[in-house]
Amino acid sequence: MAVPHLIPDGETVSASSVAPLLDRGFYSIDAVPRALTDDEIIELIKAFGEATRRAIEAGFDGVELHGASGYIIQQFFSPHSNTRTDRWGGSIENRLNFPVAVIDEVKRVVAKHATQPFIIGYRLSPEEPETPGITMTETFTLLDALADAELDYIHMALTEFWSKPRRGVESNRSRVELIREHVGNRVPIIGVGSIHTPDQAVQALEVTDLLSLGRELIMEPKWVEKVQQGEEKEIKTTINNNDQSLLAVPDPLWKLMFDVPGWFPVDKEKQKQ
Ligand SMILES: Cc1cc2nc3c(=O)[nH]c(=O)nc-3n(C[C@H](O)[C@H](O)[C@H](O)COP(=O)(O)O)c2cc1C
Repeated sequence: MAVPHLIPDGETVSASSVAPLLDRGFYSIDAVPRALTDDEIIELIKAFGEATRRAIEAGFDGVELHGASGYIIQQFFSPHSNTRTDRWGGSIENRLNFPVAVIDEVKRVVAKHATQPFIIGYRLSPEEPETPGITMTETFTLLDALADAELDYIHMALTEFWSKPRRGVESNRSRVELIREHVGNRVPIIGVGSIHTPDQAVQALEVTDLLSLGRELIMEPKWVEKVQQGEEKEIKTTINNNDQSLLAVPDPLWKLMFDVPGWFPVDKEKQKQ
């Protein structure tokens, strides 16, 4: 998933030599990665630990392992992108070996270097669209491993908080409700996806312990302060092209926010021509 011209030799790597899907986001990468060797996998696991050590030394409060969005940790768990036949692939147990090894290494580094509490979270995408691909049933197995690892939290990666499962479980309930039910109170869950108003946040917080706001905080950086001060009615839930300097969004992102259809809610009436 790396952008080839931004990495050494332009060579992307993954669990296996499987092309990434093109519908992962608004940019497409057509490079087919090279499968990592066993030695490189060990080196990569250590690199997660080194990144964590640097985060500790830099004074951060924690790290979130990016096990979502089709990036490398997800690539190892996925039966789509991981077609290996060694200890890192094949059965679901083997496909869990990389995520679990990364968590173990990060925990080891935290135990060794952190002098105050240091949070470790894990972000996951509960389903992949393709077959074979990660299903809700497989995600339940991953969640068990994450709960066993005693992480501080699990963070969903969804664009719509209440989205329904594609397959793998017969249910009319949302993914996040099924995940909450499966995890129980073993580990806190952060929900996310298209939450804009305080009312929507309150409803979502009936299912998850915490909530993250992405696009909404870009459009309304004072969201939390406005809620605290009882100014909910002043919260902005759209953007228009007069607001760039107010919101301090750099040009490349500002352009994308308007160019990618349906990504940000644009208020056309307030747009300058
Ligand atoms: C500008 C922007 C950059 C993002 N970058 C990442 C990223 O690097 N990693 C990630 O997991 N999600 C990323 N996301 C997705 C958000 O974390 C979030 O899951 C998504 O926007 C849905 O939440 P929202 O509806 O509150 O925006 C990004 C979202 C936006 C708007």
